[in-house]
Amino acid sequence: MLTIFILISTTVLVVTADICPCESQDLCQPIQQERDFEVFVFDVGRKAWRSYNWSIVTTVAAFGKYDSELMCYAHSKGARVVLKGDVFVPYIVDPGNRTAWITEKVNLAKTQFLDGINIDIEHAVEAGSPEYHALTALVKESTEAFHREIPGSQVSFDVAWSPSCIDKRCYDYVTIAESCDLLFVMSYDEQSQILGDCIAMANAPVSQTLKGYYQYLDLKIDPKKLVMGVPWYGYDYLCLNLSQDGVCSIEKVPFRGAPCSDAAGKQKTYSWIMKQINSSMTGRLWDQRQQAPYFNYEDQKGQIHQVWYDDPDSICLKASLVKTKGLRGIGMWNGNLLNYIDEGARQQTTMMWNALVHC
Ligand SMILES: *[C@@H]1O[C@H](CO)[C@@H](O)[C@H](O)[C@H]1NC(C)=O
Ligand SMILES: *[C@@H]1O[C@H](CO)[C@@H](O)[C@H](O)[C@H]1NC(C)=O
Ligand SMILES: *[C@@H]1O[C@H](CO)[C@@H](O)[C@H](O)[C@H]1NC(C)=O
Ligand SMILES: *[C@@H]1O[C@H](CO)[C@@H](O)[C@H](O)[C@H]1NC(C)=O
Repeated sequence: MLTIFILISTTVLVVTADICPCESQDLCQPIQQERDFEVFVFDVGRKAWRSYNWSIVTTVAAFGKYDSELMCYAHSKGARVVLKGDVFVPYIVDPGNRTAWITEKVNLAKTQFLDGINIDIEHAVEAGSPEYHALTALVKESTEAFHREIPGSQVSFDVAWSPSCIDKRCYDYVTIAESCDLLFVMSYDEQSQILGDCIAMANAPVSQTLKGYYQYLDLKIDPKKLVMGVPWYGYDYLCLNLSQDGVCSIEKVPFRGAPCSDAAGKQKTYSWIMKQINSSMTGRLWDQRQQAPYFNYEDQKGQIHQVWYDDPDSICLKASLVKTKGLRGIGMWNGNLLNYIDEGARQQTTMMWNALVHC
């Protein structure tokens, strides 16, 4: 937004206009074309986006600071850039508050030449409560407003790995899916509520992940509304005890009614994990049951850690469902987490991007 002050004798006129920051005015036009296959990337800021594989990216959800250079570049590649939308759910039970929030987001998208919004609400909501209905209304009204005000824009909504009230997020998934362009399924943090043994496990085991999609599809949600989200990060757990057969027991950290959770671990980027594996005690191991890679390492204090993560092999096992079930596409949390800097990491980074589309 450029503000021009014009002084005419003693009167001050304020003229505001949205000036396109791109080389060419055309690049400020919202993307209109629809591509068959979505590759949906979350970006959390800085300039890693320069190293993304733009021949496959279709949408970037900009969760970092606004970067007009990213917008111009994405548009030059025919890719959308969408805003982040988060709101405290109790506030939007009030219809006036809801409309005000939507109006603000539409105006922000217009002034920043963006192509829609990704609504990321991860609050606990009780089925049938006023919040439950308000959230559904928020998605429906946001989609109507964005489509009307920014033709071709996209409205997406982030959902947990399964529709069965994960982390007490009991939303009206069916109506929400009908009311927006796509659901980004966050198939990760699947150990946020550990009900069995309190042990380190995979972030997104293959069978558990696939079960989540079957549940969404059983609700008769159109597969073309579902984008599979895979993690480009893993969890580093400090083992309280490592049993002879490699089971790592972890501290009990309760979450939303479960006695243990992945909050006992620390989230680590794929880039960090690939460095750490070189100084591990075990090298890369593969768990047959969860179909995920992991390794153990000893820290400087001599304590043992177990790291669970995803790599091209585990991602491919999940991504094959995108093809067999005809889902809308795939994406990841998040694009920044690979090593785009070290020459020696080039292949590992390329393989992670490629695993999204060829398996
Ligand atoms: C409306 O939203 C504001 C914050 O934007 C909040 O302070 C207020 O309590 C909300 N009103 C209602 C009725 O929820
Ligand atoms: C801890 O690990 C040791 C070594 O494998 C094993 O003998 C012991 O049973 C474990 N203790 C617990 C409480 O799991
Ligand atoms: C890890 O070791 C492998 C093989 O020794 C090497 O190719 C790779 O560059 C190393 N990676 C890092 C991040 O140090
Ligand atoms: C980008 O992805 C496409 C499709 O997987 C692949 O053919 C191409 O080699 C990739 N480009 C780079 C620079 O890795």
